[in-house]
Amino acid sequence: MPDDMKSPPPPDFGYGRRAPAPGLNETEAAITTRRSVRAFLPDKPVDPALITRILDVAARAPSGTNIQPWHVVAVAGEAKHRVSAAVHAAREAGGEPEMGYNYYPVEWFEPYLGRRRKLGWDMYGLLGIGKGEREKTWAQHGRNFDFFDAPVGLFFHMDNRFEIGSFVDMGLFIENVMIAARAHGLDTCPQAAWVDYTDTVRKATGIPDNHVLVCGLCLGYEDTSEPVNELYSEREPATAFTTFLGFDAD
Ligand SMILES: Cc1cc2nc3c(=O)[nH]c(=O)nc-3n(C[C@H](O)[C@H](O)[C@H](O)COP(=O)(O)O)c2cc1C
Repeated sequence: MPDDMKSPPPPDFGYGRRAPAPGLNETEAAITTRRSVRAFLPDKPVDPALITRILDVAARAPSGTNIQPWHVVAVAGEAKHRVSAAVHAAREAGGEPEMGYNYYPVEWFEPYLGRRRKLGWDMYGLLGIGKGEREKTWAQHGRNFDFFDAPVGLFFHMDNRFEIGSFVDMGLFIENVMIAARAHGLDTCPQAAWVDYTDTVRKATGIPDNHVLVCGLCLGYEDTSEPVNELYSEREPATAFTTFLGFDAD
């Protein structure tokens, strides 16, 4: 490839964490400043008109033959409290998992297991929770079901007659939601944790029984004073996960 066709080296996306790295355009800034925020300002509300706008923008996501499989339930106030309380009660009661689908592999393998462990160690380290501190770990996991204090929660669901392809469509839509939210200074955390309580979420929100709960999402403004929000997850560089074929001039 001629030198003038080569891309400049990528910027260091780790720079600044909350601020975009220098040299990024607006789209790149919105994408690279998205992080999973796990402590929100509970009293800073999100205007419902803004939520609608974000969802309208996100719905420009492509989907196979334009089927647009996505459905969303947005909860705030009393409705959010109701679903949180129902899931906390189900969680405390124990019992069979209410899983709609396997989000994770049944058996873990490398290098993915190592990445997963690192994320966990880094996060619990910031929270001051040590290995084997089961009660604290359980309580922190339970914070998922308060939407980490975000004022708004979203649930993404789709008809269970769809196949794996529609999970791809859902992922594209959900990422769009997170990026569109960033463009308005909002933060998010996608949450598969709710999937373990699919039936309870369905009952509390009116999601039909024949719909798969794909995931939840926190939406709100970051509490920058909380150490957990210092978490910055690493990424492999593109050259490590991409095979370039047919680009060499010689
Ligand atoms: C579909 C999906 C489900 C997730 N579920 C959870 C969850 O239940 N709880 C949580 O704290 N983080 C959850 N995460 C966040 C991941 O841990 C996070 O995206 C990953 O560590 C990379 O960090 P980043 O989002 O800050 O870049 C989920 C992410 C995705 C994409």
